[in-house]
Amino acid sequence: MGHRKQMKPLILLNFKTYPETAGKKALLLAKKLEKVKTKKYELVIAPSLPTLEEVAAGTSLTVFSQHTDLAGLGAFTGKISAQELKKIGVKGTLLNHSERKIPFSILKRIAADCKKNRLIVVICASSLEEAKQVARLKPDYLAYEPPELIGGNISVTKAKPEVISKAVELVRKMSPKTKVLCGAGVQSREDVLKALRLGTKGVLIGHAVPKARNQAKFLKELLK
Ligand code: G3P
Repeated sequence: MGHRKQMKPLILLNFKTYPETAGKKALLLAKKLEKVKTKKYELVIAPSLPTLEEVAAGTSLTVFSQHTDLAGLGAFTGKISAQELKKIGVKGTLLNHSERKIPFSILKRIAADCKKNRLIVVICASSLEEAKQVARLKPDYLAYEPPELIGGNISVTKAKPEVISKAVELVRKMSPKTKVLCGAGVQSREDVLKALRLGTKGVLIGHAVPKARNQAKFLKELLK
């Protein structure tokens, strides 16, 4: 997945830190999922931070980080830097996920540092208000995820289709090169197709894949 060259819709699987994705399970799951071939979509996984290097080295799937800090290579205890991510083969990063919010003034600096290090930047927004604010940072992707629907079984595409369309419109005006994603409760092929019909360029998916009985089969159905 080249920086800014990606044209196919993006399916970004956020592994979070579920029991099904933590520790050694991350690479096992990545290896199952990499067998699911798709020509229609760009498939990216975001494993937990402690598993990033192992997964990036052990899978052919593109790997993004779930978060990046404002840090470099040096005296930054407990931080994850864009430079180090780049060194271990990570291609992009989520920033400002609703489970990992970042104050705007810091977010601005982290996003700039990620761009400088040629990481693909996906900034999350929990509302239209926040989308307006983060669009000013002109990220590669802006992901609209209403927090109250995250982790549930009602897809954002069913619950808030009009907000998704508004986010697409707003971002098109403010930052025409930024692609909009949506996420929260996305769990079926229909949900993905609806997101695309609403003008997004892909989706973020959390629990649906790790919690599926047959994870690879579930993903295969989703990507059909
Ligand atoms: O980053 C994706 C995520 O927050 C959505 O989670 O579990 O509702 O698909 P989920």
